Amino acid sequence: GAPVEVDISGIKPGEKLTVEWRGKPVWIVRRTPEQLEALKKIDGQLADPKSDRKAYPTPDYAKNEYRSIKPEYFVAVGICSHLGCSPSDKFAAGPQPSLPDDWTGGFLCPCHGSTFDMAGRVFKNKPAPDNLEVPPHMYLSDAKLLIG
Ligand code: FES
Repeated sequence: GAPVEVDISGIKPGEKLTVEWRGKPVWIVRRTPEQLEALKKIDGQLADPKSDRKAYPTPDYAKNEYRSIKPEYFVAVGICSHLGCSPSDKFAAGPQPSLPDDWTGGFLCPCHGSTFDMAGRVFKNKPAPDNLEVPPHMYLSDAKLLIG
């Protein structure tokens, strides 16, 4: 599949844009400062906080606490590492149905309940064996992202 060029200039903080790459949904999430801050506090609840697992190797440039090149923008394949459902957005913090009371925002897979944080890192004791995949990507400019 060919690389996909995406204009990200219209994504507002706290919003997500979905594009298709190689037949898969790829998300570009523009995270708020609060969402970025929350990522630093939950390592102990995550199955693989440093993205060391190898099923979907995280590119070196995204092997950091934000799993991204620029902290503000998170780029991920929107497919659960369990059986391939597409997790839904649960960006708001606080109590929500089927989520822990101290939920800080992220994604919930509707199929078997795997939960992921705002960096696509899977929580412990969930059926999904791995974090969400970060696809190869690079910035062509502040407004243009190239996926693939
Ligand atoms: Fe996502 Fe099973 S497919 S939890």
